[in-house]
Amino acid sequence: MELSLRLWLLYYGVIAQYLIPFSNADQQQQHVVTSDSLSKPKQVAIIGAGAAGSSTAYALRKYADQTSIPLNITVFERNSYIGGRSTTVDVFDDPSYPIELGASIFVKVNTNLVNASRDLGLSIKSASDTRPKETDDTLGVWDGEQFLFILKDTYSWWNVAKLIWRYGWAPVRTQNLMKSTVQKFMRLYEPPFFPFASLSSAAEAVGLLNSTSTPGEVFLADNDVSSDFARDIIQASTRVNYGQNLPLIHGLEAIVCMATDGAMAIDGGNWQIFDGMLRSSNSDVRVNQSVSAITRNNPDETWTVKYQTSDATGTPNREQSLSFDEVVIAGPLQYSDISITPPLPHIPDDIPFVKLHVTLFSSPHRLSTKYFNSQNPPETILTTLPPGTNLGSTQKGVGPAGFWSISTLRTVNAPDSAETHYVYKIFSPEQVTAEFLGNILGLNDTDAHTAADTHIGDLPKHDISWYHEKIWRPYPYLYPRVTFEEPVLAPNLWYTGGIESFISTMETSALMGKNVAALIAQSWEVQDEVMLGDDPVLDRTEL
Ligand SMILES: Cc1cc2nc3c(=O)[nH]c(=O)nc-3n(C[C@H](O)[C@H](O)[C@H](O)COP(=O)(O)OP(=O)(O)OC[C@H]3O[C@@H](n4cnc5c(N)ncnc54)[C@H](O)[C@@H]3O)c2cc1C
Ligand SMILES: *[C@@H]1O[C@H](CO)[C@@H](O)[C@H](O)[C@H]1NC(C)=O
Ligand SMILES: *[C@@H]1O[C@H](CO)[C@@H](O)[C@H](O)[C@H]1NC(C)=O
Ligand SMILES: *[C@@H]1O[C@H](CO)[C@@H](O)[C@H](O)[C@H]1NC(C)=O
Ligand SMILES: *[C@@H]1O[C@H](CO)[C@@H](O)[C@H](O)[C@H]1NC(C)=O
Ligand SMILES: *[C@@H]1O[C@H](CO)[C@@H](O)[C@H](O)[C@H]1NC(C)=O
Repeated sequence: MELSLRLWLLYYGVIAQYLIPFSNADQQQQHVVTSDSLSKPKQVAIIGAGAAGSSTAYALRKYADQTSIPLNITVFERNSYIGGRSTTVDVFDDPSYPIELGASIFVKVNTNLVNASRDLGLSIKSASDTRPKETDDTLGVWDGEQFLFILKDTYSWWNVAKLIWRYGWAPVRTQNLMKSTVQKFMRLYEPPFFPFASLSSAAEAVGLLNSTSTPGEVFLADNDVSSDFARDIIQASTRVNYGQNLPLIHGLEAIVCMATDGAMAIDGGNWQIFDGMLRSSNSDVRVNQSVSAITRNNPDETWTVKYQTSDATGTPNREQSLSFDEVVIAGPLQYSDISITPPLPHIPDDIPFVKLHVTLFSSPHRLSTKYFNSQNPPETILTTLPPGTNLGSTQKGVGPAGFWSISTLRTVNAPDSAETHYVYKIFSPEQVTAEFLGNILGLNDTDAHTAADTHIGDLPKHDISWYHEKIWRPYPYLYPRVTFEEPVLAPNLWYTGGIESFISTMETSALMGKNVAALIAQSWEVQDEVMLGDDPVLDRTEL
């Protein structure tokens, strides 16, 4: 009777020393067991070296250092590089010209990234730092036929008298709504909400389900933001950031797109944050190693991780395996190709992801004044749907513009010539054709622009001096929802990917990584206190 009662209490994480007195002998035995277990490092596997996995390693090492728990972290990454969807390529293959191929900016309120950049000694630059700034028209919103809006001298939506002049109170209401929403979100960073074992419950507790449960269009209308401001400005932002229109993307992600204050990037590439986190975590980082299966071992609930290395030519070697106390899946499960045995009690749903073509290229030509019907086409061209177009709630919602955005990133010196070239980035739902490039650059000296099926590589080198194409699955379609995949998949098996249906950014992945690290550390404390027979668990238990 006494034994079963004690087990029951242990099971709920409650050590009631005063309810069930341990004999001295008991206590001594417990300590022996514990110090034995303390000398053996906790073995943790993290699958994925992007924002989420790196942040998990970084935070877990900090928690372990604070509590002197010996810890051995192994990070498996199937790519040959660190950073996942945050990675750079070099213009002309020249390492002095790195540009972002994936995630390019973060903002001041993204304190996990800002703090890590500071603590790792990385150099932060303003997001618009390298822009050529040859025109005052820095940003324009294009509907396929005309510019609906042009912003001068600034990349900030706010403090712009012109905006108020044109749209009345809508910009002010939007800014207030953005601020109050960000404030609610930031509560997830601190106790009592952090760490959260359930994202769904935490999101509800801080009052964010109102914004995730409705499409952006409805959420904005409910908050008295006029539809012309929503279409011209906010939808231009949801399109460049997420490739989605306001009738599809949920209110939270839509309004977060307007939180652009202090947009910044790491000089040389944002991936350095994640590389720095991994170095500082002292983990065994294994690139070119792909995890294919994880299997739970009974009765100790450790996991065996099966993985495959590849040699320098990319040829896979034979499969190997290692056992771990904890496993963290740090990226979308649906793209991880990991088989899990036994089957999970709840398998995270496959959700549709956006397909995005990123086209980077350099050219001596400026954007065509004729195509854009403008004396000075803006450096950044965002797009929206023309009024009355009914495409907003579909996944194929690009509309007449045909692209999500075109940005002039910087100038570079072309190799073997004194020429200055512009570096451009295009986001589009389909591959960019030579015809389209010929049009937007105003090329007349080539046959290529007459044929719709030609490719950027078919254009002459004196027009396109360098290019790089990449197809990403960059973020989910953020359909309205009120529940999110949780950070605990099974005992000792953790997951970061659920946060992407809530807000999909480097910062939120890093936040979820840190959250998982805190949950793991908490579970070790509970185990430890169970073994030590100390009582402080009582304060923390949720009974
Ligand atoms: C073009 C583009 C633009 C973006 N713009 C921005 C932006 O400006 N700002 C912003 O904050 N966010 C932006 N994002 C989103 C941002 O990149 C992501 O939200 C964030 O990087 C996701 O980090 P993650 O660690 O969760 O996932 P990932 O970066 O995808 O990392 C998961 C890692 O796991 C690895 N992996 C998966 N399965 C296995 C396996 N079986 N074995 C071993 N390794 C495995 C993958 O190779 C990958 O490296 C953008 C994304 C793209 C693509
Ligand atoms: C740490 O983990 C690696 C596997 O990545 C293993 O080879 C090594 O023996 C472990 N070290 C300790 C001290 O447990
Ligand atoms: C970032 O650093 C500031 C100042 O040191 C601190 O107050 C804040 O809690 C930190 N935030 C995070 C998320 O680490
Ligand atoms: C959330 O929505 C409900 C019902 O639509 C409304 O009563 C409530 O005021 C909203 N809460 C917030 C914080 O907007
Ligand atoms: C990873 O693989 C790539 C090619 O597949 C190779 O160039 C690179 O050297 C490998 N990196 C490591 C650390 O093995
Ligand atoms: C295309 O032709 C026009 C008019 O002939 C000329 O002004 C322009 O510079 C040409 N563009 C390029 C890229 O050669």
